[in-house]
Amino acid sequence: MADGLYSFLAEEKGAREVVGVGFDTLSQGDIGFGKSREIYDKQMAVKLPNRSPQTNMHKKNFETAKRILGSKVTRHGITTYDIDPDKLGMFDTVFYLGILYHLLNPMLGLAKVRSVCKGEMFLQTAIDTDTSDKPFMSFTEGGLSVEGMNFVDYSHWWTPNLAGLKAMIRAFGFSVIEELHVDQANGYALLRCE
Ligand SMILES: C[S@@+](CC[C@H](N)C(=O)[O-])C[C@H]1O[C@@H](n2cnc3c(N)ncnc32)[C@H](O)[C@@H]1O
Repeated sequence: MADGLYSFLAEEKGAREVVGVGFDTLSQGDIGFGKSREIYDKQMAVKLPNRSPQTNMHKKNFETAKRILGSKVTRHGITTYDIDPDKLGMFDTVFYLGILYHLLNPMLGLAKVRSVCKGEMFLQTAIDTDTSDKPFMSFTEGGLSVEGMNFVDYSHWWTPNLAGLKAMIRAFGFSVIEELHVDQANGYALLRCE
C-alpha cells in the first residue's frame, strides 16, 4: 500500500472498511543473492540523514496521513505472501498496484490476492514490450535500471508480456473486464479484473 494514497481515496469515496498491506522494513521484501543482493547492500550502505536505511518510510508517512485525515484505514506490516483471509477478511475491491514484478513468486502473490478478493481486482504492473500472443515472463534477476531515473530497483524479478499477464490472471479464475490503461511500448498495464 506504500503511503496509503489509494486507501485514503477509497475511504473518502465511501468504502465501508479499508485494509492495507505493506511491509515495515525493506528486508521483508524479496531480496535474492547475486545481482539483487549487491544492489540492495549498496543502497543500504548509503547513510540517510534521519533514518536507518532499513526503515521503510511508508509506515511513518501512512501514520502521519492517517492522523491528519482522521482516517479509519488499517495497515498491516506484512508482505503479500502473508495475506490470509482468516486474518484480514474478504474484500469487494482489491488494488494490486505495482507489486507483481517485485515478487520472486508472482503466482503465489496472485494466489494470496485471490484468496481475499470476492469482487474486483485492479492490477497494475510492468509488462514486457513484446506484443505477441504467446504468453511468457522474462526474468530480470532482481535488478532493473529504471530508464531516465537515477535508480536501480533491487527487487524487479519478473516481467510478463500482456498475453502472459492475462494467462496468469485467468489461472486464478479472474477475467479481464477492462483494459484501463495498456501501453505495451512503454511496458505498462492497468487492468480491471473480476
Ligand atoms: C511501485 S511501488 C507501488 C506502491 C503502491 N501500491 C502504489 O501503487 O502507489 C512498490 C511497492 O511494493 C512494495 N513491495 C515490494 N515487495 C513487496 C512484497 N513482497 N509484499 C508487499 N509489498 C511489496 C514496496 O514496499 C512498495 O511500496
